[in-house]
Amino acid sequence: MSSLSQLEPSQKIPLRTEGHSVLSEFELAPELVHLNHGSYGALPHRVVAEQQRWQARIERDPTGFFQDVYPVEIRRSAETAASYFGGSAKDWVFCENATVAINSVLASFSLRPGDEILTTSHAYGAVLKAMGMWAMRKGAALKIAALPAIIESDSQVTDLVVQAFTDRTRLLVIDHVTSPTATILPIEQIAKTARSAGIAVLIDGAHGPGQIPLNVPAIGADWYTGNAHKWFFAPRGCGLLWSAPKRQGEVLPVVLSHGTDRGYRAAFDWVGTRDVTPGLNLKAGGAAHESFGGTALMERNRLLATRGAEIVSHAVSAEPSAPAEMRAAMVSLRLGSAFALSKDPIALRRALREEGIVVPVNCVGEATYLRLSAQIYNETSDYERCARALKAALQG
Ligand SMILES: Cc1ncc(COP(=O)(O)O)c(C=O)c1O
Repeated sequence: MSSLSQLEPSQKIPLRTEGHSVLSEFELAPELVHLNHGSYGALPHRVVAEQQRWQARIERDPTGFFQDVYPVEIRRSAETAASYFGGSAKDWVFCENATVAINSVLASFSLRPGDEILTTSHAYGAVLKAMGMWAMRKGAALKIAALPAIIESDSQVTDLVVQAFTDRTRLLVIDHVTSPTATILPIEQIAKTARSAGIAVLIDGAHGPGQIPLNVPAIGADWYTGNAHKWFFAPRGCGLLWSAPKRQGEVLPVVLSHGTDRGYRAAFDWVGTRDVTPGLNLKAGGAAHESFGGTALMERNRLLATRGAEIVSHAVSAEPSAPAEMRAAMVSLRLGSAFALSKDPIALRRALREEGIVVPVNCVGEATYLRLSAQIYNETSDYERCARALKAALQG
């Protein structure tokens, strides 16, 4: 069965190749059903080969490379970031990942006792912990706007976040695409309202690059971080941070090194000796993304995720965490009454894994979600296998 065979003909996006035949272009084990592109990404062979070429180049002459080649090449990579995600190379720096970028902004952001950081209940768990800790260290508080388990609309999210603003809110940290619930939040509208209330905005766009079209400066935030190692096919360790020009003077990396007193770009471009090849391979990731279809790939993945969610939710009692227009290449299905029998997300994830299905199971409050990703190497039969295994696991 071809990957999108059950979609209406008008909904099909023709791509060069797609589905299981593309698995041979990836490092992925072909015997598994990979439905978790969202967590860690997956690399095509050619990106791995390009990263190895950079590593070999470094090893031939580490001194020459780090002193004279790297400073130029990392700025070239920043130009690549600007060409794909908007703005100017001057505004883009590399961090190991979104976690480091977010911690950098939190560490740098000036907070006084009594001030508040605001976020939502659908924020990524590790980021929630970091926000709580940075707020505590600065005598500030973390406030969490509760979003419902099943989100209804953009305006519902905007209202709930904006209603949580107080005259002590200084920084809003909000996801572009939420992790456990795979929902695209209305960040432009929220950033606009925050701006007019004098609140700084950091967007956690860990899932943005490569999953959805991006024009970062147009969002109107102060900071945007994204991971190119999730949906953009760059090697792991290729996190990005965009800072609005007016904010660049106040943000430093969480790890301080030679560039600390030489401005935004110098500070982030050098955070000590480490493997710099992920950032230098943004271009290789982008080339792979384009070769798989670029914008058409993103649209194809969105349609396939929607179809996959239909297949799985027909098999068991489950419902998408958000309406179709608030989703992209991932769909989180809230598990219903059948799951209430066991209520052990780790056991469920492992039971599926034993059947060869790689898929995350996440909890937010009382709700448990199975998150399905769709990538070029997936096809509808993957979701059918997942549905069968899930049904058996929930009945067993
Ligand atoms: C919304 C969100 N933020 C931050 C992160 C952290 O990403 P990383 O582990 O690459 O730092 C993730 C990871 O999945 C995420 O989903």
